[in-house]
Amino acid sequence: MSIIIAIDGHSSCGKSTFAKAIAEKLGYTFIDTGAMYRAVALYALRHRLINADGSVKRAELAAALPNIDIELVRGASGADGSVFLNGKDVTEEIRLGKVSDCVSHVSELASVRERLVAQQRAMAQNKGVVMDGRDVGTVVFPHAELKIFMTASLEIRAQRRYLELVRKGVKTSPGEVEKNIRKRDAIDENREVSPLRRAPDAVLLDNSRMSVAEQVEWALKLIPPTLL
Ligand code: DC
Repeated sequence: MSIIIAIDGHSSCGKSTFAKAIAEKLGYTFIDTGAMYRAVALYALRHRLINADGSVKRAELAAALPNIDIELVRGASGADGSVFLNGKDVTEEIRLGKVSDCVSHVSELASVRERLVAQQRAMAQNKGVVMDGRDVGTVVFPHAELKIFMTASLEIRAQRRYLELVRKGVKTSPGEVEKNIRKRDAIDENREVSPLRRAPDAVLLDNSRMSVAEQVEWALKLIPPTLL
């Protein structure tokens, strides 16, 4: 029997790496909901729906939602998947700083969340998914069979993210990365709609000092063999 594994937590604590590794191990589909919010943010940027102060032209973006088509295409075994926005591959572009800077504000909009949550539920109709985000265990799948809430210290998260960006050739500084993470945490935790919360039945995973292999080993022990 397949189950739904919901993984929520702070920015840059390795949710996607962890979720991808579990999905690979179980032969499940990995769904990165953050990538979907990033694709909407990219659309908003391209269509000048972000004001100079970073706020969102809410009514215009809400009206544009029917024109935004997002598709997550699964990668071959071991390979990363791709994100398509209106038929074009935006996998790399949604990770750029300009998208990271405005995505939290875009994801505050109830209209955006409603649309993406409906899509996320449809994607998991047959279960057998590992989905990561901020509201997966609380809003998208409150009845998920396994919920994990991840965190790691701010310093470690900033360091990991900085190294990842440097590897990708993005010019930035550790201070700038930490500032962006701190800001995103505050917005994610304090927004009115679906704020980042640990579901009461979510198991806490602080991976500050754990390798990915250790995290996967830890997680697999939480799944009763009869559910696999
Ligand atoms: O996981 P990420 O950093 O790629 O997510 C990008 C942004 O999207 C992040 O600022 C929070 C938001 N997000 C959200 O509000 N709900 C989700 N389920 C996933 C991401």
